[in-house]
Amino acid sequence: MLSWFQNDKFPIYLAPMARVTDIVFRQFCKEQGADVMVTEFVQADALTREDPKLWETVDFTEEQRPMGVQIFGSNPVSMAAAARLLEDRLQPDFIDINFGCPADRVICMDAGSSLLRKPAKIGKITAALVKAVSNTPITVKIRTGWDDNNIVATEVGHIVESEGAQALTIHGRTKMQGYSGEANWSIIADVASKLTIPVIGNGNICSAQDVIRIREQTKCAGLMIGRVALGYPWIFREIKHYLEHGHVPSPPSLEERWKTIIEYTRRIMARPFRDERHSDLRWMRPKFIALTKGMEGSRKIRGSLGKVNQIEDLELVAEKHLENYSTFCN
Ligand SMILES: Cc1cc2nc3c(=O)[nH]c(=O)nc-3n(C[C@H](O)[C@H](O)[C@H](O)COP(=O)(O)O)c2cc1C
Repeated sequence: MLSWFQNDKFPIYLAPMARVTDIVFRQFCKEQGADVMVTEFVQADALTREDPKLWETVDFTEEQRPMGVQIFGSNPVSMAAAARLLEDRLQPDFIDINFGCPADRVICMDAGSSLLRKPAKIGKITAALVKAVSNTPITVKIRTGWDDNNIVATEVGHIVESEGAQALTIHGRTKMQGYSGEANWSIIADVASKLTIPVIGNGNICSAQDVIRIREQTKCAGLMIGRVALGYPWIFREIKHYLEHGHVPSPPSLEERWKTIIEYTRRIMARPFRDERHSDLRWMRPKFIALTKGMEGSRKIRGSLGKVNQIEDLELVAEKHLENYSTFCN
């Protein structure tokens, strides 16, 4: 069994999120208490073509372990070749296969959630990867099915388990749902009760209380947090505290939130990213807006955040905001 599930540990994963969960954001979530992390998905073929940007995407630090690298594709042979390369170069703690992405560009390649229409092919890919790497566990992430009339989570769960996958994450929505509507936790609970490998539940988890409730009501072996962490990475600290002490700690003060946002931005800027979009902070504006959402007076600073180019601009917004609001929040 994967070590992070042993002795009834109940790991909380940070969900893989393309263009969000880069190495710096992951570190930030790790410091707040995320137990297990997975890189955003990368195309297996492109890894074997040595695309440097993709190798940067799957980079991680020792501190971030246990760390998985997620790949997607359609061809079992090239996916197996990518898995071997990853094992040789990075020795990740696991390699996760994406069978859940609903994006058109991925569906067109007959990868991601497209394969939920072909459970036998999911089995073939899983078997090829399990065979290709001897020291790296293979895990799988799926959605419940293509649409409400084609729910395949249990069938796919049994297939990947029998082909040697060591854990299964289920995002409780169908491909057709995209990211809207409620996640279907009764399907996740059903699969978790039928499989021997650990099942990690995912979808709409918004609070420490949600985690406790789902832990009590299902046989999930761990849970995965996605979009809430984008704006509120402190959720990991709240969950860990609740699991250990039975109550939610005080939320971070306004000062702490700003200190973390600025430190996070500094770390991003210090990274030698190859991507040109990292030359100023324009690309981070949506992240600033997400990270300040819910703060007292956050609506009033949205306009200024939308103009941030350099770290000094961000510090100025923080300074003014703290002047106006810090006393209300402490
Ligand atoms: C911006 C964004 C990017 C995502 N990228 C990936 C990805 O690379 N791989 C993957 O398996 N899921 C990806 N997902 C799906 C999430 O991992 C997760 O399954 C989904 O957001 C549901 O969890 P939530 O309701 O807690 O957000 C992405 C989601 C978002 C919002």
